[in-house]
Amino acid sequence: MSIAKKEYKRITVKTLVDMKSNKEKISMLTAYDYTMAKIVDEAGVDVILVGDSASNVMAGHETTLPITLDQMIYHAASVVRAVQRALVVVDLPFGSYQSDPKEALRSAIRIMKESGGHAVKMEGGKEIKESIKRILNAGIPVMGHLGLTPQSIYKFGTYTVRAKEEQEAEQLKEDAIMLEKAGCFGIVLEKIPAKLAREVAESVSIPIIGIGAGDGVDGQVLVLHDMLGMTHEFNPRFLRRYMNLYEDMTLSISQYVKDVKKSDFPNKEEQY
Ligand code: KIV
Repeated sequence: MSIAKKEYKRITVKTLVDMKSNKEKISMLTAYDYTMAKIVDEAGVDVILVGDSASNVMAGHETTLPITLDQMIYHAASVVRAVQRALVVVDLPFGSYQSDPKEALRSAIRIMKESGGHAVKMEGGKEIKESIKRILNAGIPVMGHLGLTPQSIYKFGTYTVRAKEEQEAEQLKEDAIMLEKAGCFGIVLEKIPAKLAREVAESVSIPIIGIGAGDGVDGQVLVLHDMLGMTHEFNPRFLRRYMNLYEDMTLSISQYVKDVKKSDFPNKEEQY
């Protein structure tokens, strides 16, 4: 059992802010289904993100854009049923909050009511400020997401490191302060220079969770299927693989196929 698991029975948005003040690093992983979420929660992860990366990982789409609000609610409800300790944050999918603050609030309310998730995450800075405020005013905790924001992939054109140029870095710093002032409880910073991420983490009192943002932030997030090595074509520098499940699963499944073909499964003990 991790130290964090002993100390905190249930993680809330306040726990995360306390963790930052106590200089305790925050662990966050994605999950999209009941079985995986149960393992992730019992292993002591602080925050489970029902990411719109489900669009890639679960549905095989090239980008995060196609996943719908209904599909996000389905994934989030499955995760919530498994979780006893972690804070469950749910991504608002592309198209569910960009048009106007009223629609953003309607989408966030559907997530909270229909999935039982604890908070929502939204990509963007000043351009979605009014929507963030409206959702926060309804009592729904919001996590920001700056840097590489995959919902805008067609605007960027690539998944390379963001905010290397001064102008974009300055805008990102301003956006982070705006998100804190608006009332967000945390921010994900994706794929930006480590020095910039550290500066942002030091300039705000809410937790900064990095993915490809270096070691100067308050916590880390990875996509579960990537860190377990279930995916193997995606190899960014920031990704640490803790297992090679792609290989282990392929070996086990091909062994099962062989056993069935040669009538070795089931044996006498495996039948009634
Ligand atoms: O959808 C997702 O998995 C995310 C993480 C990459 C932070 O937003």
